[in-house]
Amino acid sequence: MIVLGVETSCDETGVAIYDSERGLLAHRLYSQVELHADYGGVVPELASRDHVRKLLPLINDVLAESGLSRTQLDALAYTAGPGLVGALMVGAAFSQALAWALDIPLIGVHHMEGHLLAPMLEENTPEFPFLALLVSGGHTQLVSVESIGRYELLGESIDDAAGEAFDKAAKMLGLDYPGGPRVAKLALQGKEAFKFPRPMTDRPGLDFSFSGLKTFTLNTVQAHTLDGELSDELKADIAASFEAAVVDTLAIKCRRAIQQTGLKRLIVAGGVSANIRLRAVLEKMAKKESASVFYARPEFCTDNGAMIAYAGCQRLLAGEKTSNLIKVQPRWPMDTLPPI
Ligand code: KG4
Ligand code: ZN
Repeated sequence: MIVLGVETSCDETGVAIYDSERGLLAHRLYSQVELHADYGGVVPELASRDHVRKLLPLINDVLAESGLSRTQLDALAYTAGPGLVGALMVGAAFSQALAWALDIPLIGVHHMEGHLLAPMLEENTPEFPFLALLVSGGHTQLVSVESIGRYELLGESIDDAAGEAFDKAAKMLGLDYPGGPRVAKLALQGKEAFKFPRPMTDRPGLDFSFSGLKTFTLNTVQAHTLDGELSDELKADIAASFEAAVVDTLAIKCRRAIQQTGLKRLIVAGGVSANIRLRAVLEKMAKKESASVFYARPEFCTDNGAMIAYAGCQRLLAGEKTSNLIKVQPRWPMDTLPPI
């Protein structure tokens, strides 16, 4: 089955063609980072308009690269939520129209299920069941995955998501949006000179909280700012100390989840899973627990069309399809998805 995947939930237009027999045939991503840079974050209306501009050219590109014509597509998959409602509507309306014109089935995909399954696009994939740590700009969740659609939420952030915490810390350090990769880059030049807390690790459970780290970062920045200036060295040290706190907290909870469930395979997905330090610390922890960690390649950790094409393909192969009602869900708990 050849599936065209369309991702437009936020500030990235992603399209891809996945073939259930041959694997991923082509993918393209257009990032709106420059468009939103002046505003310090995503402006929803600008995001929607830009998806309208970029979708068709990107789809023509992936069709050309895979040597296919539109009529050779068997089905379409688009992100139906969660995300920015206007941005989601662009992908949904566009995909509905194309599927209708081509008379092929269509499926609305859950964005976080897309992230969760992205590591399945790689060579080395885990067998079910496994644990999943989902760390993106909007979510931080530990999930027990029995099979596709059989998800048990073990823990989640009670306030900010891990990626959101990175983005906010970046702002405090005067770094541009999107902050996560910039904090990570700056942290490489610093050392862990400040001991940031590891929130909620001293009590049982698998929930997270990252809003306290935001306050701790702000206080540290203010305490070391002299005459309105914070030295580059101190900035790098704060970035390194902040990153270490987020990474250690995530790793402590993953170890706890491995020990509690007995599951020895851990998938790490979502934008923050591109973080090099997180990968290194999780590898070390997993080794001690005789467990293995699986990730997607960095470009498939953040938003992309390949994960939507893959996830959609799995559900389509199981006989699911979405009606031709244009429907998106800005909020959508993943544990309400039907098992297949
Ligand atoms: O999954 P994603 O692309 O979009 C959402 O679904 O939210 O995740 C984006 C988030 C942003 O908060 C971004 O700052 C963070 O992932 N991020 C990172 C890194 N790359 C992206 N955070 C830390 N280190 C990175 N290397
Ligand atoms: Zn995402």
